[in-house]
Amino acid sequence: MKKFIALLLAMVMVFALCACGNDDAKDNDGDQVKDYSSMTLDELKAELKTVEDGKLTVATSPDFAPYEFYSLDANGDATLAGFDIAFAQYIADKLGLELNIITMDFDGTLAELQAKNVDIGMAGYSPDPKRESIMSFTKIYYKGGQSFVTSKAKADEITSLETANNAKYKIGAQTGSIQYDLAEANTPDADNIGLTKVPDIIAEVISGKLDGAFMETIVAKAYQAQYEDLVIVCDVPYEQEGSAIGVNKDNEVLLAALNLIIDEAINDGSLQKFVDEAGILAVGDKYEGLLDDAGNVPEADAPADDTAA
Ligand code: ARG
Repeated sequence: MKKFIALLLAMVMVFALCACGNDDAKDNDGDQVKDYSSMTLDELKAELKTVEDGKLTVATSPDFAPYEFYSLDANGDATLAGFDIAFAQYIADKLGLELNIITMDFDGTLAELQAKNVDIGMAGYSPDPKRESIMSFTKIYYKGGQSFVTSKAKADEITSLETANNAKYKIGAQTGSIQYDLAEANTPDADNIGLTKVPDIIAEVISGKLDGAFMETIVAKAYQAQYEDLVIVCDVPYEQEGSAIGVNKDNEVLLAALNLIIDEAINDGSLQKFVDEAGILAVGDKYEGLLDDAGNVPEADAPADDTAA
């Protein structure tokens, strides 16, 4: 009996040791690493550090309504809008930080995250596994799909990805985006062209300079409100169906906090509200691109002034 009890005690000790071992995971240098994913938001906030103290620094590329764009008031003054922007404010509030959004071209947002100059990138990122070496991804906060678009003038001849995959066609996609990869995968025989700004791609599809383009479905739908000649030809299959936040690779505390905040924003209905509100703003007067140094819509892109003689 004594032997049995001794054995039992020994087993209990081994179990206890194993349990401790799990808590004290070690990284490559043998340092203790914490399991941030099991911590509460308050615990994470107590440990949170950001690139600039007291601020949440966010990179975005405002050429992507309804994710991010400029909404124009009656005077033509531009305000940054979109569901990424509203969600960024919600996140900053939950973290007790001041929101600092920096606007740039899409490929710039990737570079700034890689250089660790910003805390997060919110630019409708697809969690592309190829990007995992330069950023961490949160869970998906918005589920969306991909589309192939053309103009009304070409919709009779370009009816599928198969018909679009022809050397005589020029197909557009945003530089550095997963849509560019989709172009190379689905229309490899066509002349695939990368452009920096989404509105330029749309303008060229409408003018006939491009024959088609790969685009996020919700973005294509937002453009259809503005250009009735834009036709969505078909859905484009893509494994990562949805958007995630890109996080500075050094910041595991922030990553864990964002995953908690995403759950909360989905469950309390805030995210759906941000998407709905952005959808309404996106059909109104808007500008997609970067402002000039004075914070105005660049002259050439300003909506035509019909009061002018
Ligand atoms: N979802 C695509 C990607 O991650 C395109 C995102 C483009 N975003 C933007 N703000 N222009 O590659």
